[in-house]
Amino acid sequence: MESSAPGKVILCGEHSVVYGEPAIAVPVTALRCRARMEPAMPGSGLLLVAADLNQRTPLRAAAPDYPLAALARLVLEHLNCGEPDAVLTIHSELPIAAGLGSGAAVSVAAARALAGFLGHVLSEEVVSALAYEVEKLHHGTPSGIDNTVIAWERPVFFIKGQTPEVLAINVPLCLLIADSGFPAATREVVAGVRQRRESDPDFYNTRFARIGALVRRARIALEQQDLSALGQMLDANHALLVEIGVSTPRLEALVQTARLAGALGAKLTGSGMGGNIIALVPMEEAPAVAGALRAAGAAHVWQTVTT
Ligand code: MEV
Repeated sequence: MESSAPGKVILCGEHSVVYGEPAIAVPVTALRCRARMEPAMPGSGLLLVAADLNQRTPLRAAAPDYPLAALARLVLEHLNCGEPDAVLTIHSELPIAAGLGSGAAVSVAAARALAGFLGHVLSEEVVSALAYEVEKLHHGTPSGIDNTVIAWERPVFFIKGQTPEVLAINVPLCLLIADSGFPAATREVVAGVRQRRESDPDFYNTRFARIGALVRRARIALEQQDLSALGQMLDANHALLVEIGVSTPRLEALVQTARLAGALGAKLTGSGMGGNIIALVPMEEAPAVAGALRAAGAAHVWQTVTT
């Protein structure tokens, strides 16, 4: 029994989404996490194997906050099933702590594989809700956007606590994702923003509201298939993320490089303080912009086209 889940990028609205503003995210279908369930000896219980990390953890011995074990327990409880005698193996192409949703992708792929092995199919809503519980262990106060876009594997317009809207994207959206090579723990970056907001609520709330307004305009630009307007929204969103203190010199260099090489817009994506940038590019410019990003020191450059 095998299952997989994509990565994600936030097109616009990270951080402000934690405080009730909208955000738009798209799945990155080319970068995937795969989960495989295989039967094991009777009485052996469930063995959790994080193959890329060389970790083998029996469910029975796992700490309550070990994310993969927490997910497995949530799925078994939801299905009202006992622990199966099996091996659950995870392989992921997604970089960890890079803003691409690797934690949520592991949860979604693992939940589907485990449920499938037990003869159940989980709906997108259920998979997303189970993965959200695990996101809280990873991230503290997550908005829920990562688990949502990854479980649905469709572009979403997301407001915390509301039913997500699946966005029809009627024009191919060519994005380059460039890795700064520096990981960043979402939990810590989100906590830092929260602390700074507590000491200066007006400054932060104004910026969050501006980002929310940009996200709504980005949605209209998408509906009107106006990619140059969308690019301007990404640039303006990035400027506000700089103001709330989540960019780094490395991310700034990559964003500038992408713009100078022909991107329609570029910004950091995810929590910032490391991780990745995204650049919206005309399809024919993608090789040149990707080359410039590599020359500027990006650790990896991926291309994804959302339709
Ligand atoms: C992380 O992918 C995006 C943040 O907005 C956190 C969240 O939404 O939970 C930084």
